[in-house]
Amino acid sequence: MNWIIDTDAGVDDAIGIAMPFVPGRYPDFKLIAITTVAGNVPLHKVNVNVGAVLELLQQPMPFYAGCDRPLVEPYVDAADFHGDDGLGDGGLSHTVRQPEAEHAALALVRLAREYAGHFSVIALGPLTNIALACNLDREFAHNVSRLVIMGGAWRGQGNQSSAAEFNFAIDPESAKVVFERFDARVELLPWETSLDCMYSFERFDAVAKTGTARAHFLNQMVAKLNIKMREQFKLAGFPMPDPLAVAVALDPTLIRGERVARVKVDVGHDAGRALSTLEFRRAHPNTRVVVDMDYERAFEMIDAAWSV
Ligand code: BDR
Ligand code: CA
Repeated sequence: MNWIIDTDAGVDDAIGIAMPFVPGRYPDFKLIAITTVAGNVPLHKVNVNVGAVLELLQQPMPFYAGCDRPLVEPYVDAADFHGDDGLGDGGLSHTVRQPEAEHAALALVRLAREYAGHFSVIALGPLTNIALACNLDREFAHNVSRLVIMGGAWRGQGNQSSAAEFNFAIDPESAKVVFERFDARVELLPWETSLDCMYSFERFDAVAKTGTARAHFLNQMVAKLNIKMREQFKLAGFPMPDPLAVAVALDPTLIRGERVARVKVDVGHDAGRALSTLEFRRAHPNTRVVVDMDYERAFEMIDAAWSV
């Protein structure tokens, strides 16, 4: 299967992007390109971060710059969490790599046509590029075999508001478009699934001890954030929403619990904006919502990717 990761990198995005690159481990998974979108930080910073991660991984694959703002509302970032540079302000955000000239949404449409039936997408940021691709090509959704999304809050435990998770909150209109177009083929990793079991600080220490270039990068990237996690958020570890979504894409047997439902995204402008609601009794569910998974195996996949 040919895959694209659509990302607003982002610390946890960066951790997820490395996961497929463990020599010999995922022979059927071919990452052919990355597409970028404004989210955690503005688009030009996301582009630098993706270039930096691809350099670290020594991956020459192309990446395509996408939307620099949501479809409708003004753009809001998450630099307060991910750092001003989006990679934890650890001095990692620099690259000689440049995005291709083609817009990410056009690249998604083109590649989905070219590889139709053997083409899948992991969406780790606001769904702006994916919604645009749906609107550019009415066949786009049909050409995509699997769409794995990190986003939403299935128990109503958001992180942007009490109702809304960040990726949906930044661009709820795009999320609505995508859930309407991708009938019955979305796999959703919601925010709470990353809160139910976190990656421990000890695991970071163990990876750092391997001393590889990737381990050094990871250590620099999370150093400041881990202090924040412990002292400000009082968390027992590091939530890994985007890496868990990548893990599900790499190995769906990790899923231990799911709710099959029709997901709807609220685009109103009151307190419930971007709330993702699961309708269980509708005739046409469109989504597998991952509510439990084999965290130990998923975290081991992260360890492996950042220790080689
Ligand atoms: C999501 O928001 C971003 O900050 C993370 O990268 C992740 O994709 C979690 O709500
Ligand atoms: Ca993200």
